[in-house]
Amino acid sequence: MSISKAVNRNVTSQNSVEKRLQIQHLIGATQIVASSIGSDVVKGLTQTSKSLPPCYFYDDRGSELFEQICDLPEYYLTRTETTILQQFAGEIANITGVCELVELGSGSSTKTRILLDAYQQLGYPLHYLPIDVCAGILESSAKQLLRDYPLLQVYALAGTYELALAKLLPTQLPSRMIGFIGSSLGNLTPRECDVFFSQITEALQVGEYFLLGIDLRKPKQILEPAYNDSQGVTAAFNLNMLEHLNQQFDGNFDTMQFEHWAFYNESEHQIEMHLRSKRSQIVELRALNLKVNFALGETILTEISRKFDLDTIKQQLTAQGLLPLQVWTDPNQWFGLLLCQMQASSKSEYASYI
Ligand code: AVJ
Repeated sequence: MSISKAVNRNVTSQNSVEKRLQIQHLIGATQIVASSIGSDVVKGLTQTSKSLPPCYFYDDRGSELFEQICDLPEYYLTRTETTILQQFAGEIANITGVCELVELGSGSSTKTRILLDAYQQLGYPLHYLPIDVCAGILESSAKQLLRDYPLLQVYALAGTYELALAKLLPTQLPSRMIGFIGSSLGNLTPRECDVFFSQITEALQVGEYFLLGIDLRKPKQILEPAYNDSQGVTAAFNLNMLEHLNQQFDGNFDTMQFEHWAFYNESEHQIEMHLRSKRSQIVELRALNLKVNFALGETILTEISRKFDLDTIKQQLTAQGLLPLQVWTDPNQWFGLLLCQMQASSKSEYASYI
């Protein structure tokens, strides 16, 4: 064993991983039966244009496939955002000072390490609140982080952004930064985006921070291969949503009878990802008491991935009381990272004032 490993082991045994980890599950197994969980699936599959919420991608297998997507040569997003973070994490830490880091859709927390390193280098305490719908990846990445950062405290929340944001307790540190990197904002429609930003401002105090990573508009020739990779990982990721639904809702989707279909909708500036039925068929989700008819060629929209214009998103954030302090991009301007600060005159406070 190397010396550094031996030292590390000593520190962690004094300050054990278990003591520094708390995980709260916002969606318990019992609630699935009793509550409205799955009503979003029923709603999506009974509409004329069928759709499913992208959060159903992320069971253990889906999270694993997403990690593989991030390493694909065609999927420029993760690589590009990583280089921006590597370049500017120090600046981010300098601007925010000591703060608690909340992360929405934390996944493997790989990119987050760049931020943790920057805060650690300044000698700041490290408080991290990862939030993810996939409890499996949340727990395993939290444990790995705790082994690698001996002074880190992790308070993990397994659940949707909405549930988790509403559950946040006041931070013990001087400030808080909510991170939403990786362009997951692209999954939200413009209207959902507005609601989401107001949930963010609800969870922040005046002067606190919001770090947003977004994919920017670029030629279709670059965008489309990122969602149609040559190894078929994205196709497997898309189809896995059906396996997840089978698991969770006692369903009988046959993934062989559906195919991956993704394209760039230029007028809407968004990638649209669908599952297309290869024949006419009936699928049942017994736990939801639901039978769904599919015509040959009929599709389910599983995800939109919007591509943003920096000026428009800056205006939108500003209008919501989240003032962009700094905007960083890569030399190609493929990806944007915005550090915003919560303003005193946010829309909701103003609304209650008048
Ligand atoms: C995690 C939502 C940012 O939209 O690029 C990757 C998900 N879908 N390949 C994206 C995804 C297909 C990804 N986000």
